Amino acid sequence: SLNNSTNIFWQECPVGKVERQKLLNQKGCVVWITGLSGSGKSTLACSLSRELHSRGKLSYVLDGDNLRHGLNMDLGFKPEDRTENIRRVGEVAKLFADAGLICIASLISPYRKDRDACREMLPDAKFIEVFMNMPLELCESRDAKGLYKLARAGKIKGFTGIDDPYEPPLNCEIKLQQQNGLCPTPVDMAGQVVSYLDDKGFLQ
Ligand code: PPS
Repeated sequence: SLNNSTNIFWQECPVGKVERQKLLNQKGCVVWITGLSGSGKSTLACSLSRELHSRGKLSYVLDGDNLRHGLNMDLGFKPEDRTENIRRVGEVAKLFADAGLICIASLISPYRKDRDACREMLPDAKFIEVFMNMPLELCESRDAKGLYKLARAGKIKGFTGIDDPYEPPLNCEIKLQQQNGLCPTPVDMAGQVVSYLDDKGFLQ
């Protein structure tokens, strides 16, 4: 174990996950959205959360960009920092899933081994990896935050897709991409994820 403490114990609480899930009429899980900056991760996360809410299902969004203002404010974008970022969010997502929520994590999470480590933390198919398979050219053309422009000009170093790698998933549960050169709408994409969750029994 990587645990550095000694003399620590695991405290079990009498109200368990099964009871919480019964109360909520749903099963806790993590929908992990990965993809380039500008691929539409946060938009999908919000749309999915809205759709689940309208069906009476409790979800919570963990957004990479937002968490970097608090929980992960000490981390930058070096490989070790990204790895620690993903590890922390994986641990938090695991807690939310254990609480019975449908936790939607939206982070670039560019390295396969980091995402796979989160998958390991969430056995029994509770880790649902959603890959926003959008071409770099599309993400770059959107450039909502102007960061690609800065990265191309060398003003940001180590930008994912430009001079830092993005490793696409090999075995994701859901892959979202353009069809006939058109991007599905956020509502359509959210619908696909909801169908998946429904089929796998997470919404009952
Ligand atoms: S990671 O790689 O998963 O740790 O990144 P994440 O926590 O999701 O944060 C990504 C957002 O940070 C902004 N940003 C950068 N992205 C990639 N590379 C570099 N160097 C970088 N610097 C800042 C960027 O706005 C990302 O936002 P999204 O929402 O993905 O567009």
